[in-house]
Amino acid sequence: MAGPEDDRLAVDLLIRGFQVSRTIRLVADLGIADRIAPDGKSSVADLAAASGVLAEPLLRAIRALAAFGIFRVDAGGMACHTPRSLLLRSDAPDSLHPSARFWTAAGSWRAWEALDAALHGRNPHQAAWGTSRFDYLRSHPDEARIFDAFMANFPDDRHAAIATAYDFTGVRLIADIGGGNGETLRRILALYPAAKGIVFDRADVVAAIPPEALAGGRITPRGGSFFDGVPAGANLYLLVRVLHDWPDEDATRILRSCRSGMAAEARLLVVEGLIEPDPSRGRPTEYLTDMQMMAMFGTARERTEAEFGRLLDEAGFALTRAVPTGSAVTILEAAPAP
Ligand SMILES: C[S@@+](CC[C@H](N)C(=O)[O-])C[C@H]1O[C@@H](n2cnc3c(N)ncnc32)[C@H](O)[C@@H]1O
Repeated sequence: MAGPEDDRLAVDLLIRGFQVSRTIRLVADLGIADRIAPDGKSSVADLAAASGVLAEPLLRAIRALAAFGIFRVDAGGMACHTPRSLLLRSDAPDSLHPSARFWTAAGSWRAWEALDAALHGRNPHQAAWGTSRFDYLRSHPDEARIFDAFMANFPDDRHAAIATAYDFTGVRLIADIGGGNGETLRRILALYPAAKGIVFDRADVVAAIPPEALAGGRITPRGGSFFDGVPAGANLYLLVRVLHDWPDEDATRILRSCRSGMAAEARLLVVEGLIEPDPSRGRPTEYLTDMQMMAMFGTARERTEAEFGRLLDEAGFALTRAVPTGSAVTILEAAPAP
């Protein structure tokens, strides 16, 4: 049974969580997990030489992670994989490599440092960087591409879960609004060969999608802002983890943009992690995502199903049903209100 000393250790480790997270990014940025063969061993000296860094600090970083079961390293400086470090390989199924590089990347990291701003009604990211999150990403393409890859490989594995949880039979054209690099569409189109898709996102995001990721031409990339309008004529619209980036008034504007591009028989799927008001019943990661929204966007946040229902109502939609998925996200299906 856990006693007070276990609790003390557990809380101490939580308090020091940023040290673990930052050290994971240190080795992920160097691709160390990819440099060690899944069933092989590498000397830290060789890993350091191949990465162009000093061996001694790299050994200390790998040793610290090994204390958490991420890599194994012996006293002679030979490193090998563990089940946990294998998850950091970029070729692992549902790899955590993009996640490892994302959370403590400069943009996010410095915004978290300014978190107090949110307690006074200000936007921490804006306070830290003097610019909004998405403008920051536009002017920091390296971080923006890490963000896009992270969204496509998010640990909740939402894209595959959406494709299998909802019946897309008969859907001809799907417009994925704020669709990032198109991962949701790729997963859906792989299961529904007759469907086509439009991935609509910021111009720099869609311009970075390689042609081979466009499902043999079945996905059309379109750049633009959903505040100015969305492509018309699709019979299904997706907003996957988009509305949580915005406060209510902006979220309503995005929904209204979708509404005005939609025919009466078209449907909208809002896909989000619904926040459970009682945290003892919710997933810890959802509350952390809510805090990430606070750090990046100030008043943007995770919402309950009832809160999404109210937003939809205000924007001229009727919530028709909620479809759970095998992931942390729920699909909220909405129809244009008559
Ligand atoms: C949290 S990400 C979700 C990406 C993707 N739907 C997914 O679930 O992986 C939000 C997306 O909204 C896009 N976005 C932000 N502002 C936008 C705008 N004004 N117009 C279109 N897309 C925008 C971002 O570039 C980003 O790809």
